[in-house]
Amino acid sequence: MTDQQNVYPVRDDIAANAWADREKYQALYQQSVEDPEGFWAEQAKRIEWFKTPTKIKHTTFDPHNVDIRWFEDGTLNASVSCLDRHLETRGDQTAIIWEGDDPNDAKHVTYRELHAKTCQLANALKELGIGKGDVVTLYMPMIPEAAVAMLACARIGAVHSVVFGGFSPDALAQRIIGANSKLVITADESVRGGKHVPLKDNVDAALTRKGTEVCEKVMVVKRTGGEIDWSEGRNVWYHDLVDKQATDCPAEEMNAEDPLFILYTSGSTGAPKGLKHTTGGYLVYASLTHQYIFDYQDGEVYWCTADVGWVTGHSYIVYGPLANGATTLMFEGVPSYPSHGRMGEIVDKHNVNILYTAPTAIRALMAHGDGVMDTSKRDSLRLLGSVGEPINPEAWEWFYRVIGNSKCPIVDTWWQTETGGILISPLPGAIDLKPGSATLPFFGVVPALVDAEGNELEGVADGNLVILDSWPGQARSIWGDHERFIQTYFSTYKGMYFTGDGCRRDEDGYYWITGRVDDVLNVSGHRMGTAEIESSLVAHEAVAEAAVVGFPHDIKGQGIYIYVTLTDGVEPTDELKKELTQWVRKDIGPIASPDVIQWAPGLPKTRSGKIMRRILRKIAANETGGLGDTSTLADPSVVDDLIENRANR
Ligand code: WTA
Repeated sequence: MTDQQNVYPVRDDIAANAWADREKYQALYQQSVEDPEGFWAEQAKRIEWFKTPTKIKHTTFDPHNVDIRWFEDGTLNASVSCLDRHLETRGDQTAIIWEGDDPNDAKHVTYRELHAKTCQLANALKELGIGKGDVVTLYMPMIPEAAVAMLACARIGAVHSVVFGGFSPDALAQRIIGANSKLVITADESVRGGKHVPLKDNVDAALTRKGTEVCEKVMVVKRTGGEIDWSEGRNVWYHDLVDKQATDCPAEEMNAEDPLFILYTSGSTGAPKGLKHTTGGYLVYASLTHQYIFDYQDGEVYWCTADVGWVTGHSYIVYGPLANGATTLMFEGVPSYPSHGRMGEIVDKHNVNILYTAPTAIRALMAHGDGVMDTSKRDSLRLLGSVGEPINPEAWEWFYRVIGNSKCPIVDTWWQTETGGILISPLPGAIDLKPGSATLPFFGVVPALVDAEGNELEGVADGNLVILDSWPGQARSIWGDHERFIQTYFSTYKGMYFTGDGCRRDEDGYYWITGRVDDVLNVSGHRMGTAEIESSLVAHEAVAEAAVVGFPHDIKGQGIYIYVTLTDGVEPTDELKKELTQWVRKDIGPIASPDVIQWAPGLPKTRSGKIMRRILRKIAANETGGLGDTSTLADPSVVDDLIENRANR
């Protein structure tokens, strides 16, 4: 990538009506970093408080004592900002447009209805004995009940932990145990691309795992009416319990720093970690970023195509948009069903103005040629957004030209589960666009680039991306393991938050995220730890050792490439490759499906036994010309074998 890119200057008509133009962005950004207390005290007013905070910022990244608190003497309830306060002004406005997997299924839920449904479920949760501080696991389809469940937990001070519906029973069990969760809310089945996924069966399987005894109840939404096993006493039908409840439920008064949710994500080592997000700072940040970055204007229809199982769904389908009184579209299905024109057809059907999606979805459409969008006009679109992985300039240009009819700015938003909300992104009325760059930091965000030793790099530079000071949406800890939180994010570069991403800064100060620099993969925008996949593989009796790396993949961004050393005496067969693929899918979930498996009689290791992943990555990427220094290897000949038998794709 060079800097000799097209530049798309801010359009005057957009700047004229946007929440921020160039001057306003600069003034607010400057204030936000020079006077964070003043800036955020003002911004806190955008949500409802029981008690307005007077203590605004109390944060330190000192690795001996990482302590992050925002608005710490304020009290609130997140569901009040998302629901109650809209009742008078927009009670009959649509809060959620639901589009089913089947193109004939759709419904609108107004703010008044959403409020009532949330209160009913909140009352039902109380009847089940769930209260403040209890963790509720949500393993749900993309249906309005998923948002209702999140808000109902918030309403009574319970902490939700949403687990993506594509995860396996084992992955679900691990998260139920990790969060000590008393209740799971699920559905009989989910429907995606015409296929049914047996969510309830998966929950049943998860609850046979040791350690899940803490989970006492499973509440089941009837989505398809598909056949499920029923365990009297432990299972409860959602509608049986919820429909009879009062449509009013007092909102629990929570401290700003009480947890709102846990969300598990993958790191470079060990099991997935549950990031802890708290109430006040998170909500202020989700709401502010949603308004400014998507330039959300009253009455617009906004669609984020993520799943609520990921952080993008939390902040930009549910909390941000609802706090802002927006109309947010929730799509149950997949962009390729019944045909590849679906995304555009949904835009036309519901007059979507703002479309926020992922590079992998764009590349998948692009592979079918421009004609793939011919079944829709997309005239209603005004703004596009991208998230989850670096967007290559070709995909950016195609998104702009074909999906957006060459008239919609694209906000390329960089952020992470840990950050709670977007940290680096253009504001459409303020910042000129360069395809492939997330451009400039949002209010209150102080990015920097450091070299391997942690020295800050000035000006045009390539390095590791760190953030120097706290912002309100930041995760506060890892659930149950604050030490790991400190180790993971604040110890590599002392006193700085380390993102795990590599990044370049150009002559205009624009940031270009280059991807992970740690052992985390990003496959179709899904984060996965290589260590997780490796530990799944070595649990198979045929596998003596495994090493997992990413390789460039046209559609997925990164594919999963696996080197396997077999146990003595085991024959390397195609059958076994299939078996190992199924093994990982079953253990983690379909998103962890290996793309390539190569048999490796030996793995390149240093004399101290450390696997040299750099070399494995190069072989997987077919860049065997520049393997660098292999003289430190215990046995350099294994590399020749790996190159020679490189699994062809
Ligand atoms: C990557 C998703 C480049 C990055 C919100 C980050 C991106 C990881 C972008 C977090 C972007 C996300 N450009 N890379 N616009 N957005 N990433 O936690 O590597 O699922 O560290 O959060 O995705 O993934 P996560």
